[in-house]
Amino acid sequence: MTDRGDALARARSSQGTHPLVREFTQSVSYDRALYRQDIAGSKAHARMLAARGVISADEAVRLIRGLDAVLGEIESGSFVWRAADEDLHMNIERRLTELAGDVGKKLHTGRSRNDQAALDFRLFISDRSRIWRDLLHALIAVLADRAEQHADLIMPGFTHLQPAQPVSAAQHLLAYAWMFRRDAERLAEADGRIRVCPLGAAALAGSTFPLDPHAVAAELDMHGVFRNSMDAVSDRDFVLEALFCASLIMMHLSRLSEDIILWASPAFGFIRLPDAYSTGSSIMPQKRNPDTAELTRGKCGRVYGALFSLLTVMKGLPMTYNRDLQEDKEQFFDTDATVALSLRVMAGLLGEAAFVPGKMREALRKGFVNATELADYLAVRGVPFRDAYRAAGQAVDEADRRACGLEDLPAGVLRGIHPGIADDVREILDYERAVARRESPGGTGPASVQRQIAELRAGLSSVQSGTAELRAGPADD
Ligand code: ARG
Repeated sequence: MTDRGDALARARSSQGTHPLVREFTQSVSYDRALYRQDIAGSKAHARMLAARGVISADEAVRLIRGLDAVLGEIESGSFVWRAADEDLHMNIERRLTELAGDVGKKLHTGRSRNDQAALDFRLFISDRSRIWRDLLHALIAVLADRAEQHADLIMPGFTHLQPAQPVSAAQHLLAYAWMFRRDAERLAEADGRIRVCPLGAAALAGSTFPLDPHAVAAELDMHGVFRNSMDAVSDRDFVLEALFCASLIMMHLSRLSEDIILWASPAFGFIRLPDAYSTGSSIMPQKRNPDTAELTRGKCGRVYGALFSLLTVMKGLPMTYNRDLQEDKEQFFDTDATVALSLRVMAGLLGEAAFVPGKMREALRKGFVNATELADYLAVRGVPFRDAYRAAGQAVDEADRRACGLEDLPAGVLRGIHPGIADDVREILDYERAVARRESPGGTGPASVQRQIAELRAGLSSVQSGTAELRAGPADD
């Protein structure tokens, strides 16, 4: 055999390579997950080749029929994946040729695995990120529902994890809803760059065949086509953007988890976790552990890891395709499973967690979160703010000594601290009213909260599969 013949034999099957090398270089054990996208891309390629007169219409029909037969075998589980065929592309082409005959060998005309692999993965990531978007919308819907149910529930808002000012529980929940809304928007914007067709770049330099990448892109419902063949086969910024979006989603979920973990601790006691989303201890009978929230917080690490892993893979690669790029997939698969499951679990947990108003009320009083109201009360009546601030501080000290809230201090005591404090201060110190006064745009006031709920819900009109997937229970993809 000539050297070139050997190379072809090696390309089609790794029969002659050392078993260790075969094990080391194969990707079919995991890239088979892209089979739907690979077959859809191949069908579009075959149609385009026929439209351009590179193959006959009849050949295209036979290729497409063969590809559909391969798809049927894979979906029914009868397809035999062979590690010796290296990756999913070679496996599918081999089986296509077995089923359709020699015409199968024409499919790869004007195409390389380099542009094929990039196409498959772009479609796959785009498809998965649409599911993430739906799951984000489902979570936003749950947050909006819980916020509506608890529009009147007042709790301490914190800075530095110290009680600061009263807020509605709704406002706290909606803060996260807005974060998840931006996550969904970010994914939609990234999709404009991810779902772009690289097919037609061939190995790296374009092709001598009269290819029509726009036709392929249109058939695959893509937003556009590559502009430079070398760029098309060599970059993986589209994977990195998805991993970055995933990292932000996990960071937001992790912060929410941290709040839930704190709230579920008896020291706070603001929520009671549903039985279905908490676990007991094998030794301490009183325990009700927030494991689902802890694991969500923990899983954030592996998603950041995937982002940094691929950034590191990419940083030293010369143009254009290098085999290192095959390392783009497994971490994304792990990220995909982690993000999808974490979003589902969080929506389920939040949907069923019970708020404990009594504990929130107690924390409001003990945290003196109406101290700002008292200072503002005096300042509005002409007392210089620094003096008002000091008087309110003295009132806090006095209430602390008496182990009561500011609102429980006798009128005489308050007047003794500052003569400007009259009986109408009771109204000012009321927590509900303190919240109700904050109707500035985006504030915690009830009208602002209702506006937010309406605005968030209006953005959900496009949700379809998200809630359905949630109701379906455990992940099946
Ligand atoms: N399986 C490879 C990947 O995922 C694509 C194959 C390209 N191989 C090559 N020798 N050009 O990156």
